[in-house]
Amino acid sequence: MDEAIGRYPPEHKRSAALPLLHFWQEHFGFISDEGVKWIAAKLDLQPINILELVTFYPMFRQQSAGKTHVRVCRTLSCAMAGSYRLMENLREAIGFEPKIDNHGTHNPISVSPDDNCSIEFVECLASCGTAPVCMIGETLHENVDPNSVVDLISNPQSAIRNPQSAHPLEHRLVFKNIGRAGWKIDIDTYIDNGGYEQLKKAVTMSRVDILNELKTSGLRGRGGAGFPCGVKWSFIKPDEKKPIYLICNADESEPGTFKDRYIIHEDPHQLLEGILISCLALNARTAYIYIRGEFPEGAKILERAIEEARKHNFLGKNALGSGFDVEVYIHRGAGAYICGEETGLIESLEGKRAYPRIKPPYFPAVLGLYMCPTIVNNVETLCHVKHIIAMGGAKYAQLGRPNNTGTRIVCVSGDVQRPGYFEIEVGAVTMGQLIYEMAGGLKPGRMLKAVIPGGSSAKVLRADERFKIKDRQSDGSIIEREISIDEIPMDFDSLTAAGSMAGSGGVIVLDDSRDMVWTLNNINEFYAHESCGQCTPCREGALWMKKITERMLRGGGVVEDPRTLKMIGDNIAGRTICAFGEACAWPTQSFVEKFPDEFASRAAKPVPPPLPPEYISEELTERETIPTTALAHDPGWEKAGSAGTI
Ligand SMILES: Cc1cc2nc3c(=O)[nH]c(=O)nc-3n(C[C@H](O)[C@H](O)[C@H](O)COP(=O)(O)O)c2cc1C
Ligand code: SF4
Ligand code: FES
Repeated sequence: MDEAIGRYPPEHKRSAALPLLHFWQEHFGFISDEGVKWIAAKLDLQPINILELVTFYPMFRQQSAGKTHVRVCRTLSCAMAGSYRLMENLREAIGFEPKIDNHGTHNPISVSPDDNCSIEFVECLASCGTAPVCMIGETLHENVDPNSVVDLISNPQSAIRNPQSAHPLEHRLVFKNIGRAGWKIDIDTYIDNGGYEQLKKAVTMSRVDILNELKTSGLRGRGGAGFPCGVKWSFIKPDEKKPIYLICNADESEPGTFKDRYIIHEDPHQLLEGILISCLALNARTAYIYIRGEFPEGAKILERAIEEARKHNFLGKNALGSGFDVEVYIHRGAGAYICGEETGLIESLEGKRAYPRIKPPYFPAVLGLYMCPTIVNNVETLCHVKHIIAMGGAKYAQLGRPNNTGTRIVCVSGDVQRPGYFEIEVGAVTMGQLIYEMAGGLKPGRMLKAVIPGGSSAKVLRADERFKIKDRQSDGSIIEREISIDEIPMDFDSLTAAGSMAGSGGVIVLDDSRDMVWTLNNINEFYAHESCGQCTPCREGALWMKKITERMLRGGGVVEDPRTLKMIGDNIAGRTICAFGEACAWPTQSFVEKFPDEFASRAAKPVPPPLPPEYISEELTERETIPTTALAHDPGWEKAGSAGTI
């Protein structure tokens, strides 16, 4: 415990709240009131400061789980591959209520009558290419057969490792070792294959030179927004007096995205080398890798890699004799998609609920972790830094297209024959090549219906749409052309021009067997569950959208529903603290607009008359008091006492 607290500055030991909660839950099975009080005392906090974390982060439990705890992914690609059937089979076989309870699927968890097993629906586990997946205890199981999941629990085989070898259309830099014969993840193998040479080179370069290489490379962030990495880094003042932090965003939770987990599992030293070079360039002496709680194995792999690197003096005091002291720490999240949003992540790392901060003023590069300048970059982005140092920024920029340089990993899941990850030169492969050549095409007899091109937040593209794309010519002139979905180049600008986005690189393919109301309802359930709840439009709107699509699915859709759905989406986007607002509105806005007939056919009932109000006005005025019920058992208030404040 003290070692965990020591990973954070002494005046910020609150940051150790999540690690201590993990320790407690691993040891005692759940977080009791005693645990809440004990951790609060250890960190000089009030119990309410800990209880608010237990209730915010889905991975923490206030009740015991069964001896074997199973988490089944219910998000889109897994649901398409049968995860609801998998859950149904589990419930029947183990003696739970055989019906799926729409409101009780996430939390609290269901425990079998004999306490041997507990089950829980969870959101995307970043393994959509091997759907359906579940975690049994701490181990991820991929490509689970819904009909034999019970056998899997009684006899869990070792988890499937699924490294893919490269397709001829790929251009692998970051994934060059993954799936390669003889490749192992220990530091000796890494060094034997040229590992840490770029760190040694970077140590001899000035900070400005490293930054210039990065700017020349044109690298854009691979986490979702595609912001130019060199520009972001240049926000750090060269004469900055405060400590500078680097955070590696390993929260990977955008449905459809499953690349960062593979990097961590299959090539952890590549990430570490990228982080260390970036620390040098930014003059950051501390880096945190914020890894999502559902990656326990990834966290262990990285801890091991850090210790190996320390033994070789790649990090620690006076790294490589450069006079530069640098430390890298792992910080585990505990569920909650919003921890991927960089300011939510920073709050979470500070030991609070992951409430995104208002920008401005809280741009991380200015006011980030502990109100110090902080750079947050995605796992894949940081790996590219190493390759840019190896190749030089100018050569790297020759890969891909202008403004869309380098390579990037795209993940394909859903209705294709060979789902998986593919590292491509940005824009050198079209959507058609990706789906039909690389991912093996659609299932026999099926036609393409739609594609969600950049994680589930991206606007859906219909298979028969035509898109107007502007191409910049070598002489600077611009030519506009109209193309089909198959011809869209897989790059940032083309997907934006097509009305969607490249986002996190998660491509979800939908064939003509898919019901778009069902699909949107699955997506809406994700966002309704994951809204952090700070902004009213997002908190309420995400839930309303989910309730409406669910009612439509159950046969209760009324004629106003498509219009209401669009209106709710329109009133969320652009009106919230963070981009989750857009992320949850875009699917609804685009599905309803692009598949009007399907939505109309599920919305045939006349609008019912307004329901009578709960109380009539006379009753309300007659009542002198309003009965209330305690919301939660709150040890914080107990400690503070009736007169106290906390
Ligand atoms: C709701 C939401 C979820 C996000 N989730 C992730 C995530 O899981 N991983 C990630 O790298 N970036 C995620 N981002 C983007 C981050 O806020 C941030 O832009 C990114 O980590 C910056 O790194 P990059 O510049 O290297 O892409 C998310 C953004 C939003 C609005
Ligand atoms: S938009 Fe949603 S997720 Fe983002 S801060 Fe507001 S409520 Fe939270
Ligand atoms: S792992 Fe299940 S949808 Fe991503």
